Amino acid sequence: MAFAITQTCCNDATCVAVCPVNCIHPTPAERAFGSTEMLHIDPKTCIDCGACADACPVDAVFPVDRLPDGLREYARLNSAYFEPGGPGGTERAPETTDTGPNFHAWGAPAFDRVLPPDFGPLRVAIVGTGPAGMYAAKDLLLHTRAEVTLIDRLPVAGGLVRYGVAPDHAATRKVGETFARFHTHPRVRMYLGLDVGTDITAEELAAHHDAVVYAVGAATDRRLGIPGEDRPGCVSATTFVAWYNAHPEVAPDAVDLSAERVVVVGNGNVALDVARILVTDPEALAGTQIAGHALAELRRSKVREVVVLGRRGPQDAAYTRSELLALKHLPGVDLLIDDHDPRIGTTIDAATPRDKAAVLRGLPRESVDWSVPPDAGGRPRRIVFRFLSAPVAVCGDEDARALRVTGGTGEREIPAGLVLRAVGYRGVPQAGLPFDEATWTVPNERGRVTGRPGTYVVGWSKRGPSGGIGANRACAAETVGSLLADAVAGTLTPAAGGPRAFRRLVRRRRR
Ligand SMILES: Cc1cc2nc3c(=O)[nH]c(=O)nc-3n(C[C@H](O)[C@H](O)[C@H](O)COP(=O)(O)OP(=O)(O)OC[C@H]3O[C@@H](n4cnc5c(N)ncnc54)[C@H](O)[C@@H]3O)c2cc1C
Ligand SMILES: NC(=O)c1ccc[n+]([C@@H]2O[C@H](COP(=O)([O-])OP(=O)(O)OC[C@H]3O[C@@H](n4cnc5c(N)ncnc54)[C@H](OP(=O)(O)O)[C@@H]3O)[C@@H](O)[C@H]2O)c1
Ligand code: SF4
Ligand code: SF4
Repeated sequence: MAFAITQTCCNDATCVAVCPVNCIHPTPAERAFGSTEMLHIDPKTCIDCGACADACPVDAVFPVDRLPDGLREYARLNSAYFEPGGPGGTERAPETTDTGPNFHAWGAPAFDRVLPPDFGPLRVAIVGTGPAGMYAAKDLLLHTRAEVTLIDRLPVAGGLVRYGVAPDHAATRKVGETFARFHTHPRVRMYLGLDVGTDITAEELAAHHDAVVYAVGAATDRRLGIPGEDRPGCVSATTFVAWYNAHPEVAPDAVDLSAERVVVVGNGNVALDVARILVTDPEALAGTQIAGHALAELRRSKVREVVVLGRRGPQDAAYTRSELLALKHLPGVDLLIDDHDPRIGTTIDAATPRDKAAVLRGLPRESVDWSVPPDAGGRPRRIVFRFLSAPVAVCGDEDARALRVTGGTGEREIPAGLVLRAVGYRGVPQAGLPFDEATWTVPNERGRVTGRPGTYVVGWSKRGPSGGIGANRACAAETVGSLLADAVAGTLTPAAGGPRAFRRLVRRRRR
């Protein structure tokens, strides 16, 4: 027997540090870590101690013989990673061994500069309580004596863990509980419902702290730039996701599910999230943290078919294998590939087991006749994957009626009463910070904001809107490492006002 890592793995590498025999790969010291979709356990060296399963914040690790239905394939996916020719069979960090004890050489201590013992506690403000802000807070609280001011503009902490992660990903949302343990840490003061830039200025915040870390994420959606995009019925996934997660700034009636066909533009994990929520039996969502108004609308929903539109081929999709695999196990939902271009079938047939396109093998393919209504013949709800097809225009008199798309035989219209744009998130300028309009990020060097000493950035506002929850852990370690190095080098300007003065300032502004 052995353990196996499954769908919800968010690559935070917590398990790597606790495994006594170093059988979880890639580790953060291995090159493949930067591009892997999940970590894998080598069944040949796993000693079944269970430490990884206990440590995993998102319940992604199971003994192979107790893998739930729908996750069984992960036993094979884990072992295939280590087979000769597989990624784990070829590349290992030079300092790791296959069977020797794991001295956690990859990550401990996280900071190469240790604050001198006579160094007074730093006062650090962290703006944003999503994963990036919380990993930075954890690092500061666990590795230094810093006092941390946590700030979020929303009344509930958590960032996208609370308002982005899909409600049926209950295990993933559990990571929020791990973060929440630090909200009440004795060296933390938390201010929710406080917008930096509106309620207080960046300068005021900086004056009351030795350093400020911005972890403000990427708040808005990317646009398609096609005619008709602003018609009612063409909605961004940012809005749709916030709607089903009860985001306080999205109205309960922001989404209308009276159409039978929905087109989701984009091939990322967010596109799969929204497609899955649209076709899942609402009763299966009833026990989750889904917003009440969304559950009611899903119960009334007329949606029979969701078309997932990718402008590139099945091998280039941005979604992860694990999220695609999960769709295959959705009860009562058919999957279909629109065979409108012969290159699609050829790519899937030629895919090796390691290729992303291989997950689509075995699914029915058909050249879809879009004039046939989605509920024809009382067939089950279905998701249709249409690759190699880009959006051209949202058509309609007033509301969206169809999406015009490119394809193998030229342009055509797919009738749809709702078009969801899931083409990525986008950062917005943060008052008091520089902003790079090309990458929608805060210009920085290893987390140090360009031209703003004592100011740092982490997470999606540092790297752009890409990467799962765990990717923010290494990102935070780098930023906090820069901050501590600057503290040791004496380049931080000490806080002018203390915690009480800051609390008084906040109280005045909230009146
Ligand atoms: C729809 C969706 C689903 C996802 N699902 C998963 C998943 O299942 N598994 C996974 O591994 N990853 C998932 N991710 C990715 C993951 O959520 C991100 O990697 C992560 O949230 C980025 O962290 P962050 O802290 O940089 O940003 P965020 O989580 O966005 O946090 C930013 C925080 O800053 C606050 N803020 C912004 N501006 C201000 C201001 N001016 N003043 C005060 N506070 C401010 C915001 O309110 C927010 O709380 C998902 C992403 C999306 C979009
Ligand atoms: N379960 C999970 O683990 C989970 C869930 C949700 C999100 N996340 C993570 O969060 C991050 C953001 O996800 P995301 O889905 O928002 O973004 P993403 O991964 O960047 O995917 C964006 C998709 O939109 C497509 N696209 C962009 N512009 C387009 C255009 N003009 N027309 C048509 N298609 C266009 C892209 O295609 P091209 O590739 O051709 O550019 C890509 O398929 C990702 O790292 C994701 O893995 C993880
Ligand atoms: S069960 Fe123990 S030996 Fe096996 S991968 Fe997990 S921590 Fe390592
Ligand atoms: S989420 Fe983290 S702890 Fe859990 S399996 Fe993935 S890398 Fe390991």
